[in-house]
Amino acid sequence: MILVTDPRQMQRLSDDARCEGKDVAFVPTMGALHAGHCTLIRRALEYGDLVVVSVFVNPTQFGPGEDLARYPRDLDRDALLAADAGADVLFAPSAEAMYPPGSATIVDVERVTDVLEGKARPGHFRGVATVVAKLANIVRPHVMLLGQKDAQQVVVIRRMLEDLNTGVQTVVVPTVREADGLALSSRNAYLSAEERAQAPVLSKALRAVEERVRTGERRGDVLRTAMRSTIGAAPLAAIDYVSVADAATLREMDALAAGQEILVSMAVRFGTTRLIDNTSLIVQGKE
Ligand code: PAJ
Repeated sequence: MILVTDPRQMQRLSDDARCEGKDVAFVPTMGALHAGHCTLIRRALEYGDLVVVSVFVNPTQFGPGEDLARYPRDLDRDALLAADAGADVLFAPSAEAMYPPGSATIVDVERVTDVLEGKARPGHFRGVATVVAKLANIVRPHVMLLGQKDAQQVVVIRRMLEDLNTGVQTVVVPTVREADGLALSSRNAYLSAEERAQAPVLSKALRAVEERVRTGERRGDVLRTAMRSTIGAAPLAAIDYVSVADAATLREMDALAAGQEILVSMAVRFGTTRLIDNTSLIVQGKE
């Protein structure tokens, strides 16, 4: 595996691979790699002859008062894990290389960013869409692999890639979890032992909603209340939001319709750590 820090060198490398008829598969990350990221990298081997992983803690997607300064950074460890998972190139640019003085262009995806994470973290998806558009122009991938863990991010990035006519295909990889259900996240490292012990309540609430829908519950407010009460049983959990929304528009549902794909999601704080999780499901029954 080679390490590249210069965006122009990365572009040349990808262009050369494309000229040789190779497919380029790309996994964008902010580093602090864990088994979730490594699953994305291993899946990328199925789609690309050249597998590129980026590690860039993107300052523009963190709001004031968020965890940019304390976000875990360990490039040597990330390089070992990425190489082990099968990456060919690790692209790790500096903030100055990505946002040189004078940069003035932002990418703003409308509507699907008004709700959920976009509402709770104003400006977050502007930063994500901008950096992923830039990374797509630098890496020029055929395929980009994204995690279901960040479901709204998938919707936003897909919209952006299509609206900007990038021709980049996306592959969504299911959420990788700990044995007790907690979704792997770089932010789990912030949890105290007590908080960590209570954190599986998020996935527990998701499983409870899946079960309620499976056994016939169709009322959105009943499902949201059930999530709140499951999460409320964990004394250290503070709910930011719970949601039962249409998976495409991300609008909250009053009544679930048969055949519809819904996204059940939540954001919950444990002390200063904010965790998100979700599941998507198709409502069974006659349409
Ligand atoms: P990061 O949080 O590092 O995540 C990188 C990719 O790994 C994302 O597609 C995310 O959904 C996926 N991922 C994280 N945890 C996962 C898990 N437990 N199972 C499966 N996939 C998981 O998301 C970002 O970085 C950034 O916003 C980025 C897209 C790189 C733009 O800066």
